[in-house]
Order: sequence, then C-alpha cells, then structure tokens
Amino acid sequence: MQIDNRNETSQLNMVFWTGAGLSAESGVPTFRGENGLWHPSNNIRYSQVSSLGTDLAECMAFHNQRRRAILRVFPSRAHYLITELQQRYNVKIITQNIDDLHERAGSHSVIYLHGSIQFVVPKGFRHPKYRLSWYKNINVGDRCPRTVAQLRPDIILFGETIYGYQQARRWLCEADIVVVIGTSLLVEPAHSLLGNINPMAKVYYINPEPRLSSHLPFPGEQVVEGANSGMASLLDEISNGW
Ligand code: APR
Repeated sequence: MQIDNRNETSQLNMVFWTGAGLSAESGVPTFRGENGLWHPSNNIRYSQVSSLGTDLAECMAFHNQRRRAILRVFPSRAHYLITELQQRYNVKIITQNIDDLHERAGSHSVIYLHGSIQFVVPKGFRHPKYRLSWYKNINVGDRCPRTVAQLRPDIILFGETIYGYQQARRWLCEADIVVVIGTSLLVEPAHSLLGNINPMAKVYYINPEPRLSSHLPFPGEQVVEGANSGMASLLDEISNGW
C-alpha cells in the first residue's frame, strides 16, 4: 500500500467510511456474511420500516437482542487505530454501523448514516431523541411523553431517509484520502454517496473479500485484509511514508 508523500500531512483531510466488517472484528455479526443478521432470511423483514407496523413486537425484540449483543463487545484494534489517527490528522468518520464502538474507542466527528441503537425516537418522528440505557429494552407500549407516539429504535430502516447525507457528501468532496472499511457496498443511498469522493483523493478499500473493480463506487486500492490488519498496514505506511 503506497500513500502519497505530502509535505503538509497534518493538513490532510482523511475520511473513514465504515461498515459492519469493522464491527465484525469486535464480534458484532455482519448482515450478509455467513452467520450474518440477515440469515435466516426471515430476519431481513426487521430491516424494513414496514415491520414497525406489521411486526412491531418481533421487530423490537430483534433490535433489543442487537442492543444486548453490542453491550457485550468492545472496540477493536482498528477502532482505536482510527482514533489514534484522529489525534494526528483531520479525520472524519462516516459509518453505516449503529453501534457505539467508534465512540467507545474515543473517536469524534462521526456521522451515523443509519442512526444509533443507543437512542429511541417516537414512531413517525426524528425528535425528541431519548438515550436508552443499554440494560433496558424498548417494548410495545413504551410511549414518548411529548408526542405520546410509540417509541422505536433510532435506526434507519429500509424505506427511511438516512441521516447526515449532505454533511457526508461535503466531507467526501473535500477528502484527500478515503478509507472504506468492511462494507459490501450493496446498500443505497450509501453506495452512490461514495461516488461524491473528491476526484483527486486516494481511496483504499479494506475488506478480506476482494470486490470486482467495476463494483467499486470509486477507483481505489483494495487491501484484501481484515480491518485490524488492514488498519495496521495503513498506520505503518503513514508512519514510514509520509
Ligand atoms: N474486516 C473487514 N471487513 C470484513 C470483515 C473484517 N474482519 N469481516 C467481514 N468483512 C466484510 C465482508 O466481506 C462484507 O463485504 O464486511 C462486509 C459486510 O457487509 P454487510 O454485511 O453487507 O454489511 P454492510 O455493508 O455494513 O451493510 C450495509 O445494510 O442491511 C443494511 O443497515 C444495514 O448498515 C447496513 C447496510
């Protein structure tokens, strides 16, 4: 992995785009992998906003189980290496993940495109947001004191508008380096959002499964490694090459 030498490296704008493969290093299941959340396939209905109407209790139980799984894991080495880079360079993070592992690793400047399972919001609204204790479940009948609407996890389901699109687009347009870690690049509008990367930027895709170049939303170097080892190589290059 060769990264351009730059005189003013600390002026570099770096953007990390992270997907479920990064959290997989912490033990959080991915969605489409072998033991992914969408297998058995009948779970995938809980990724649709319609399930809040047709299967509310089962949908809440499914996402409550995800919360409990996240409570039991810790940030991976890759999460901490990203935080380490934030202390040296202008690093922003755009994540598709709904866990709090970036935050727990000490990172800041994070856009949660698909929301955060730490919060709940009233059904049909985006506000007010309530931070829910990791030790609590959200259940049918739990209502927002202000809107009286049923509370639901503040995660974006298929059929809903993602958070932070314009801000993420600006960060990508201004990026000098973009590192895409652990995503299958299958989900819109996230995938086309990556098409807004600054044409002059260097792009790296860290994923143990190589992608067809034609499938990449933006030309870049593929680092066919897991997040932890791929991030370690990136940090080596930065320490030696910049
Ligand atoms: N390190 C890096 N990448 C990994 C690792 C690892 N240790 N293990 C798996 N991966 C890669 C897989 O090769 C795959 O390309 O992570 C990717 C995970 O893909 P998905 O399961 O599709 O997850 P993601 O791309 O984040 O899904 C996007 O889809 O269902 C929605 O809202 C959900 O945010 C999610 C979105």
